Amino acid sequence: MKIRENLYYVGVNDRVKHRFEGLWHLPHGVSYNSYLIDDEKVALVDTVDVAFFAEYLEKIRAVLGDRPVDYLIINHMEPDHSGALSLIRKYYPEIRLVGNRKTMEMVGGFYGANSEGDIVVADGDALSLGRSTLTFHLAPMLHWPETMVTYDAADGTLFSGDAFGCFGALNGAVMDTAMDYEHYISEMERYFAAILGKFCAPVRTALAKLSALDIRMICSTHGPVWTEAVPRVVDVYRRFSEGVTVPGLVVCYGSMYGNTQRVAEAVAEGAAAAGLRKVIVHNLSVSQPSFVLADIFRYGALAVGGPTYNGGLFPVVEDLLKRLAHREVRGRKLAFFGGYTWSSQAVKTIAAYNGHMKMEMAAEPVEWKQGASADALERGRALGKALAEAVMN
Ligand code: FEO
Repeated sequence: MKIRENLYYVGVNDRVKHRFEGLWHLPHGVSYNSYLIDDEKVALVDTVDVAFFAEYLEKIRAVLGDRPVDYLIINHMEPDHSGALSLIRKYYPEIRLVGNRKTMEMVGGFYGANSEGDIVVADGDALSLGRSTLTFHLAPMLHWPETMVTYDAADGTLFSGDAFGCFGALNGAVMDTAMDYEHYISEMERYFAAILGKFCAPVRTALAKLSALDIRMICSTHGPVWTEAVPRVVDVYRRFSEGVTVPGLVVCYGSMYGNTQRVAEAVAEGAAAAGLRKVIVHNLSVSQPSFVLADIFRYGALAVGGPTYNGGLFPVVEDLLKRLAHREVRGRKLAFFGGYTWSSQAVKTIAAYNGHMKMEMAAEPVEWKQGASADALERGRALGKALAEAVMN
């Protein structure tokens, strides 16, 4: 699939995998994007998951026929992109790998596939293909320490690795200009929250570094090629990495027999009655974590509730808090609630997690013993109202 003069999309769709990285749900699949620059010298940019190698090779050969590939540019070594590296080397024995020092160490560690002709690049190094001159820019922790991005000044094209990528297989079109891409923007937010949410500081560093480049096209490793949407996708990364949110409340709860659920509903009612129009309620026994995290990255207020369980906090609620403690979720207004039957542990466990998360408390915790009493529901509504007022102000 031709993107522009001398540049082809040779990626593949994965509509089979249930969970990305074995963790994150893929209701709409995912694409593994690879690009072929057919210049005086021929370069592949990243590869695909090895399970799709036959289809991948067919796509490369549809462009090149029997001609060789000179370079394989490796922006990122996670196996969803490097998986086909060894087989590419087998089918194109003259190919030279291009990566930084850390990349080459991983090429050895994952595949034992280093070769004397490989080219080790440093930040700012350039490689001429003829019409195009590629420059390499290290972008550590976007998403692994070896990650770099590759820029082609001839057309202002950034080969960005995972950055600006999204979940969702491609449905016929590759270019943003040829599709309704709203769904992919939402899936980019979910991808960021799940995959890059821990690395907000490196994202901010990379955005500052890349702002010096004239970027007119972004070719990432997942999802559409961005052209008209470049400002929009860069803004997603700016907002999510800086903790810029919009007014809204995410109520996350777990419940065994419905008492915590009733208080959660009261929290949502209190927020809505206070005039907050965006209120999202997630039952953590049902909602998938990446969707919950994406909402928490989007909105400014968070309510968390769960019952005491086995002398601690209900597991699905603690799981969310663990995930949040591993992410940079700045400046959220927080309040929490929890019930117990004979030993109060839930509320104090949530409070302990907030010792790490350091969210700003918008209200005192709501706790109750045994059934969700009228008093507990009333205090739940007040908690929702306080969160709404905190986030609307
Ligand atoms: Fe799409 Fe970090 O790999």
